[in-house]
Amino acid sequence: MTLLEKIDLCKKNFLKDKSALDTSPSSIDLLKIKYLSRKGEVARLFSSLNSVSNEEKPSLGKALNKLKLSILQNITDLEDSLDGPSIVDDNDIDYTLPGNPYYNGSVHPINQLIDEIKDIFLKIGFSIASGKEIDTDFFNFEALNIPEYHPARDMQDTFYLKNDMLLRTHTSASQIHYMLENNPPVRIISPGKVYRNEDISVRSYCLFHQIEGLFVDKNVSFSELKGTLDYFARQIFGNSVKTRFRPSYFPFTEPSAEMDIYWGLNSESDYRITKGTGWLEVLGCGMVNPEVFKSVQYDPDVWRGYAFGLGIERLAMLKYGIEDIRIFFDGDIRFLEQFK
Ligand code: PHE
Repeated sequence: MTLLEKIDLCKKNFLKDKSALDTSPSSIDLLKIKYLSRKGEVARLFSSLNSVSNEEKPSLGKALNKLKLSILQNITDLEDSLDGPSIVDDNDIDYTLPGNPYYNGSVHPINQLIDEIKDIFLKIGFSIASGKEIDTDFFNFEALNIPEYHPARDMQDTFYLKNDMLLRTHTSASQIHYMLENNPPVRIISPGKVYRNEDISVRSYCLFHQIEGLFVDKNVSFSELKGTLDYFARQIFGNSVKTRFRPSYFPFTEPSAEMDIYWGLNSESDYRITKGTGWLEVLGCGMVNPEVFKSVQYDPDVWRGYAFGLGIERLAMLKYGIEDIRIFFDGDIRFLEQFK
């Protein structure tokens, strides 16, 4: 067979191989190796150029180059028709290995609940007011009818800072900020962090979140307060939620109450969380004490009001069935990921 015939045959074989190809990256590579590698078909034909006469060499060389280019072009086209780059050694990659997952952040469950509560109150005409996490004795105690010698200061163990500053122990301090800056009527909620130097347990932590509510107008009654909080509980937990009000004491409200929500006594830990009663306290509330109005120059003979302070972590425990308040502050990704 002459070299020209061999070139011809090589071309035919290539086209035959190409048409039988399954166009996977690996079989394209095999085709490339068979024809274009250093010991491939085309290279073999090139080496037989040595044994042809000098007159024939230029034309045969030309024919061989043409063959090589055409095979190369064919293979490049095949590779381009695939999506990814061709992979030379398939054995290096294990396609069955699991991929590398990457983590998206998410809104903390406490902040999700705060957003939900804000929406509920915004819909019934409340607006949002801000307060200060680092505040003074005046806003946190004095103006709320808790003077220095008052035994009620023992109710809250305070983190005191330098220069008469402290970490606020409740969002009630925001009531004073708002009323000093705005004239009545008032209809606000004010969410935020509060701090107490308490023993840490399943029920309490040194830091937690509250939402303060304050409503001031000319004819405000205790039954409106109850109605609003009942409405709120149904919005959060559904219409079958059970609530109860217990008389309580706060120096800045008179009369005062606490609202409990029924959690149940189905398991051992329910006894621990509810101290064996089945009820969990979620907020303090009452009618604004006239002494508080005096300290912000609202006329107590004209204005009346109610106030409440919701404990967000307690509500979140009820809503999500969480038995230990500390888990909200651990930053454990396995816990947080469940709230995406
Ligand atoms: N500030 C009170 C507390 O932290 C709750 C409260 C707010 C009570 C408003 C009455 C009115 O326990």
